[in-house]
Amino acid sequence: MKATLLISALALGASLTAAQAEDVTVGMILPMTGQQASTGKQEKAGAELYMAQHGDKVAGKTVKLLIKDDTAAPDITKRLAQELITNDHAVALMGFGITPTAFAVAPLATEAKAPEIVTAAATAVITEKSPYIVRTSFTLPQASKPMADWAWKNGVKKVVTIVSDYAPGIDAEKWFTATFKKDGGQILESIRPPLKNPDFAPFLQRAKDDKPDAVFVFVPSGAGALFMKEFAEQGLKKAGVKLIGTGDVTDDDQVNGMGDVALGVVTTHHYSADHDSPENKAFVAAFEKANGFRPNFMAVGAYDGMALFYHALEATKGKTDGPALIAAMKGAKWMSPRGPVEIDPATRDIVQNIYVRKVEKKNGQLYNVEFETIPMVKDPFKAAKK
Ligand code: PHB
Repeated sequence: MKATLLISALALGASLTAAQAEDVTVGMILPMTGQQASTGKQEKAGAELYMAQHGDKVAGKTVKLLIKDDTAAPDITKRLAQELITNDHAVALMGFGITPTAFAVAPLATEAKAPEIVTAAATAVITEKSPYIVRTSFTLPQASKPMADWAWKNGVKKVVTIVSDYAPGIDAEKWFTATFKKDGGQILESIRPPLKNPDFAPFLQRAKDDKPDAVFVFVPSGAGALFMKEFAEQGLKKAGVKLIGTGDVTDDDQVNGMGDVALGVVTTHHYSADHDSPENKAFVAAFEKANGFRPNFMAVGAYDGMALFYHALEATKGKTDGPALIAAMKGAKWMSPRGPVEIDPATRDIVQNIYVRKVEKKNGQLYNVEFETIPMVKDPFKAAKK
C-alpha cells in the first residue's frame, strides 16, 4: 500500500515537471497605456487572435503569451524584458511599440541569446542592433521611398516634409527627401514636431506659408487623427495643398473617424484593412468579431509575429534555444493578411509588398483603398549598404 502511494506520488511529481517543461513562454512588451496605447490594444488583439485561431499547442509544447505594459518608456521596457527572461523563463520577446523601446532590449536579446521579434517599431537600423532581432512590421525607408517616386510621377514638384522628431521620422524624412530630389523634386522645408504631446498647428501654418504642392508626413500610429484635424483647421486642403505620407497617418484604427478631410489622401504602406485577398477578408472578419474594432497594421504585425514564432518552434521540433529559433526564422515565407511576406535571411528584416493607396468612402466608411502594388520590397537602407 505504502509503496503504491509512493510510486504514484513520484509519478505525479514527474508528470508535473514534464508539464512545466512543455510550457513555452513568449513575453510581449507593449504600450498598453499612455500616448501609444492604441498600438498596444491593436498588437495584443492581433497576437491573441493568432493563438485563438491556431491553438496553443505547437510541436508538443504549450505556448503561453505573457503581455506587459511598458507605457512606451524604454527604461521600463528594459526592466520588464529582464524579468521576463529571468523570472518567467521567456524564450522569446515580442512587441515594442516605438523604436526606443525596441533599442532598449537589443543588448539583453544578445546576452540571453533570445529572439526579439519586433512587431511594431520601424526604424531601419533596429535589426542591426542584435543578431537575435527579427522584424514583422515594416521599415520607414520601405514605405517612404515609393511615396517619393509616386508623388514625382504624379505631378508633385514642391514638398514640405513634416515628421515626428525621433528615429523613424528621421528615416522617413531622409528617404523621402533623397528619392524625391533625385527624381527632380524640390523640398521647400523639413519640419520636425516633437513626438510627445505634439501640437501640429504652428508647424502646419509654416508649411502652408511655403506654398508647396504637397505636405509629406510621418507621425506614429495613433497621432494621425490630431494631425488630420489640424491640417483641416489650418486650411491647407482649402489652399490646394495635397497630403501624402506613409500609411501611419491614415491608420485603420482612426481613419474612419477623420471625416472628409482625409478623402483623397495618398499614402504608401504594407497593410490596409481593405486589402483584397481571401486571407485578409477572413482575418478582418475574425478580428472585428473578436474585438469590435477594425485591425490596423499594428495588429497584423503582431499576428505575423506569432505566426513566425509558431513556424520556428515547429521547425525546431519544439527546441527553444535562441540560435535554433532564429535560424528557423531566417528565410521563412508565408501568406499574411497584408499579402506574401518573407524574412530576408541576410538582414532578418521583412520583405513585403508596398501598396499605394487613396482614402475613399466604401459602404459609408473611410478606407485606404490600394490601387498600385510595388512587389516584395526589401528595406532600402540595408540594400543601399551592400
Ligand atoms: C516607431 O517608433 O518605430 C514607430 C511607431 C509607430 C509607427 C511607426 C514607427 O506607426
